Amino acid sequence: RKAVTLHRIREMHAQGEPIAMVTCYDASFAKVMDAAGVDCLLVGDSLGMVVQGQTSTLPVTLEETAYHIRCVARGNKNAWLIGDLPFGSYQQSPAQALESAVALMQAGAQMVKLEGGGWTNETIRFLTQRGIPVCAHLGLTPQSVHALGGYRVQGRNDEAAATLKQHACEVAEAGAAMLVLELLPSSVANDVTQSLPIPVIGIGAGKGCSGQVLVMHDMLGITQGKLPRFVRNFMDGAPSIEAALRQYVSDVKARRFPDDAIHGY
Ligand code: KIV
Ligand code: NA
Repeated sequence: RKAVTLHRIREMHAQGEPIAMVTCYDASFAKVMDAAGVDCLLVGDSLGMVVQGQTSTLPVTLEETAYHIRCVARGNKNAWLIGDLPFGSYQQSPAQALESAVALMQAGAQMVKLEGGGWTNETIRFLTQRGIPVCAHLGLTPQSVHALGGYRVQGRNDEAAATLKQHACEVAEAGAAMLVLELLPSSVANDVTQSLPIPVIGIGAGKGCSGQVLVMHDMLGITQGKLPRFVRNFMDGAPSIEAALRQYVSDVKARRFPDDAIHGY
């Protein structure tokens, strides 16, 4: 297949073709995901939890993220590669964010993702003006887990939903080329998606988004214990990991996943 570019992502969004994203942390999985037709690979700071065995994303460092981006970039040929700016690597100032984003872009990322609304507008504009594509991340933002009081569904009441929508409009206005929405009522995420000119990628945010993302270890049935409701194990009935990933891509593209009755809030 041809390389997935920002131009291609915008085309998919304009044509109403859902975008399939999965997190990825190494070259071998990158190769399989690329072959399975996954549009976007996210080197998420979830690596703190699923790769490093930590209890949150907070301990992940910029250098660790850059290392995993280098690994993924070597295995990937055609998928769009997004790297998470880790906790503490962008909050201080736009200048700090630029320095951190440069490290991730030089490692092979094509876009950087950062968490938060309102205060991030200036940083998003700063990076975008300097040629760095930015993905914003709103709703449940795991780097703020302690401030939020746990991994809880966000935007549950009218006021919270209105603030979220305001922040979403602002990140798009500031130049973000993509937005991840995590753990929101499907109706709220759908309303935001309809209101924005940029693709919105959901995780636990319902089927109305412009695309979906899942953590690799969750969707391949590797994660032990109680999983959040929005996860589906695509290894169920799949003969191989590549087949499971292909199933995920085709279910996202056909809007068969997620099913709001099962996976939604
Ligand atoms: O780090 C991560 O895996 C993420 C996704 C859940 C969106 O940010
Ligand atoms: Na993340």
